[in-house]
Parts: sequence; C-alpha cells; structure tokens
Amino acid sequence: MAVPVLKIAPKTEAESAFAHDVREGLSLQRKHIPPKYFYDDEGCKLFEQITEQPEYYPTRCEMQALQTHATEIAALFPQDASLVEFGTCTTTKARILLNAAPQLSAYVPIDIAADQLRSEALAVREDFPNLEVVPVVADFAQDFELPEAVRSKPCVGFFPGSTIGNFERHDATAFLQRAAKLLGRNSLLIIGVDLVKDSKILNAAYNDAAGVTEAFNLNLLKRIDRELGADFNPTCFEHHAFFNREKGRVEMHLAAVKRHKVHVLGETIDFRAGETIHTENSYKYSIEGFSALARGAGWTPVKYWTDSTGYFSIHALRMIAKNNH
Ligand code: AVI
Repeated sequence: MAVPVLKIAPKTEAESAFAHDVREGLSLQRKHIPPKYFYDDEGCKLFEQITEQPEYYPTRCEMQALQTHATEIAALFPQDASLVEFGTCTTTKARILLNAAPQLSAYVPIDIAADQLRSEALAVREDFPNLEVVPVVADFAQDFELPEAVRSKPCVGFFPGSTIGNFERHDATAFLQRAAKLLGRNSLLIIGVDLVKDSKILNAAYNDAAGVTEAFNLNLLKRIDRELGADFNPTCFEHHAFFNREKGRVEMHLAAVKRHKVHVLGETIDFRAGETIHTENSYKYSIEGFSALARGAGWTPVKYWTDSTGYFSIHALRMIAKNNH
C-alpha cells in the first residue's frame, strides 16, 4: 500500500529558492552556497557512501552510541509519543530507537527529498505494522506544522548525524527554538553532536581516500548545471576540506584550479585561480559548548551519552514548560 506523503512546500518554490541562493551566493566576494543543496537524490546517495568510508567516523560512532544506550534513551520517552525525525535520508538510526521504544505510537520522518522519503517510510511501515508512519516533505530549516494525526501526542524530536553542526551558531539556535515550538511543551529532543578532536582525525574524515567526499562536494556544481542550466566544468574545481580550529569547524570549499568564467542563471561569474566557493561548515562542539547552546535556545540538557571512543555525543534535551497559563 502506498504511504501518503504530505507536501508542505510546493516543488517550484523549493527550486526557486535554490536558484535565488545560488545567484546570491555566487555574486558575493567570498562565494558560498548553503550546504542544504548537496542533498538532491544523487547527493543523498553520495552521502550514504560517505558514511561507509573508513575515515568518516561520525556515523559509525553515533550508531554505536545509539545501540549501546538505546534502552536508557528510550526510557525517557513518554507513552504513546510520536518520534519526529528531522532530515531522514535514511531511517537506520531511527529504527534503533523504534526497536527500543515500543511505547512510541507514531513516526514522522521529515525531509526535502520526497522520493527517498517515500520509500524509506514505506519500509518502516512494513517493518513496524503497529506504528503510524506519517512522512512529511518539508525543509525543516523553515517553519511548518506537524500533521494533524500526531499534533495531540507527546513528541520526541530526533535530529541525528550532527546535522546541527552544519548550521551557523545563530541558525543552530533558531533551529532549536523552532523545534521547541513545533514539538511543544515537555517535549524531548534527542540530538547527535560531533565533538571537537584531533585535527588529523577530522581532516581524514572529510578527505577520504576513495574520493567520495570529493564527489559529494563536486556534485553541487553538477546539480547547478542539471537544474539551473549552468555550465560549470567540475574538472576546473578541486575539493578542499580542513579543520579550522580557531572557528571550531571543518570547512569544505571548491577551489578553482585556473582562472575561468562560468555562466549561471544569465550571469557570467569570474573565477580567479585558487578562488573558492565555500560549500560547508561542520562545527564540532564540546559537551559544555553544546549544552550552553541548547540552554540559550530554551532547552534543558537532561543527559548525554558518547560512543566508546568519545568522538561523538548524543544529547537528550527537555523543553520544560515555564508556566501553566
Ligand atoms: C550531514 N553532515 C553532518 C555531514 C558532516 O559531517 O558535516 C555532511 C558531510 N560533509 C562532508 N562529509 C559529510
């Protein structure tokens, strides 16, 4: 049976936002494109492959932490709650919580990539027949509402993968505030956060030997060519990724290997040799640093867990109602 997918943003609106952000980002002196545009169907597939690379520790470490501590995490979930997942390229991590928490009655995966979301939701519905599965196509960086069917249930948000690390700090705060509003009073948020560590480990994780992260970065240019009719030649750019300790983040860039011009959306963009398009920041936090960020957004840190190497953390945050009016 087909799983109904609730479309929050019409596709044309999402596409014009892409065109707008590309036009604006490439017109700046320091060119940049927001990392959310990595994730078209091809980008989702490449990201999946990144997570399997030996150097890319975050997925393995987060999975290990979730598996080790699933019972303790699930014990915090109220009866009849909905698990609301922000950004669901794959449901592998959510399944660990769904298995550990039979008290959950609904699963709401949210993602912008409709086709992938639909097939993942269908598979979860088959494997968890007692669970109501209500996929929502939306950009969770924007305001949207939960489906009617789950609005009255207690909510547990789930934001794995340290995707929060891809937000600038003010956007991370804004996301946490929006999540609080969406999930409601007394809700819980389980969030994966990558931790600051030795730069050798970080640099290797974003420069895997098989070149998958490089392909993921370059796919952004291919996507701009495919969807916006630009004439980027990906062989004129190389993948740069490095840990910037001062800023506490891994930066990814696409660096022009020579001086050349590209035509995008009716504009001619000049690139100097070595000039970069900044495509991603991946902030790495300390436990205290992330807890302070969460508090600043109105959440109360309840508990955190790490994997056995201490590379990756999972935090449980609670939205405590300030008053009963
Ligand atoms: C999704 N996000 C948390 C990944 C990260 O590590 O920042 C995206 C990624 N970029 C390069 N490799 C993986």
